[in-house]
Amino acid sequence: METKRLRIAMQKSGRLSQDSQALLKSCGLKINLREDRLIAHVENMPIDILRVRDDDIPGLVMDGVVDLGIVGENVLEETMLERQALGLSVEYKTLRRLDYGDCRLSLAIPQEQVWSGPESLAGARIATTYPNLLKRFLAEQGVKFKPVMLTGSVEVAPRAGLADAICDLVSSGATLEANGLKEVQVIYRSKATLIQAAQELPADKQALVDKLMPRLQGMLQARE
Ligand code: PRP
Ligand code: ZN
Ligand code: MG
Repeated sequence: METKRLRIAMQKSGRLSQDSQALLKSCGLKINLREDRLIAHVENMPIDILRVRDDDIPGLVMDGVVDLGIVGENVLEETMLERQALGLSVEYKTLRRLDYGDCRLSLAIPQEQVWSGPESLAGARIATTYPNLLKRFLAEQGVKFKPVMLTGSVEVAPRAGLADAICDLVSSGATLEANGLKEVQVIYRSKATLIQAAQELPADKQALVDKLMPRLQGMLQARE
């Protein structure tokens, strides 16, 4: 797909949205976001911001539908595993790992239960939004389990009787605590990252990326 304006995908609403917006603004992009709009035109540069679900961002970049994307490494890695299994392209370039969006994908079990390592999950039902990362981890441990796929409210699954354990993102830990769960095993650590489509960009778009990257590097270095 060929458009004249550089297309950057970012999360519409969620843990990365505010920081991603702020980062782009600090690189000089004048963005006029309207809550109801999927696409925001950058006023002072030939750039369009696409605001989508974070889960859709890696696929949009790997399919070359957008030029750049800002996404959590957890979502990126999960999508890679999923697409690999489907025989779809998993190519992209990492432009810069970012300094926000810290979180970890962890296994959690009801607070009152005893944890004696991953093998205590043998045969357990585990609710998650990240079945591929979970499968990879437990396969390495030689543990068989029953995945329960949920795209939201994963943390209520044990109490609701849908699962014995969960595998979900943890940042402050407040969500787990509020739901009577305890984090027992980190399986993946993640930050936000800026990625680019693998195929070559038209020269004018690449020139724009090359102009923006030093600004972004400078911004990130300044706040290290
Ligand atoms: C994650 C996760 C929990 C929450 C944990 O969701 O699913 O709901 O964050 O954070 P805490 O440890 O600080 O309480 P996220 O906000 O990433 O949204 P998503 O699941 O809709 O992608
Ligand atoms: Zn999400
Ligand atoms: Mg959530």
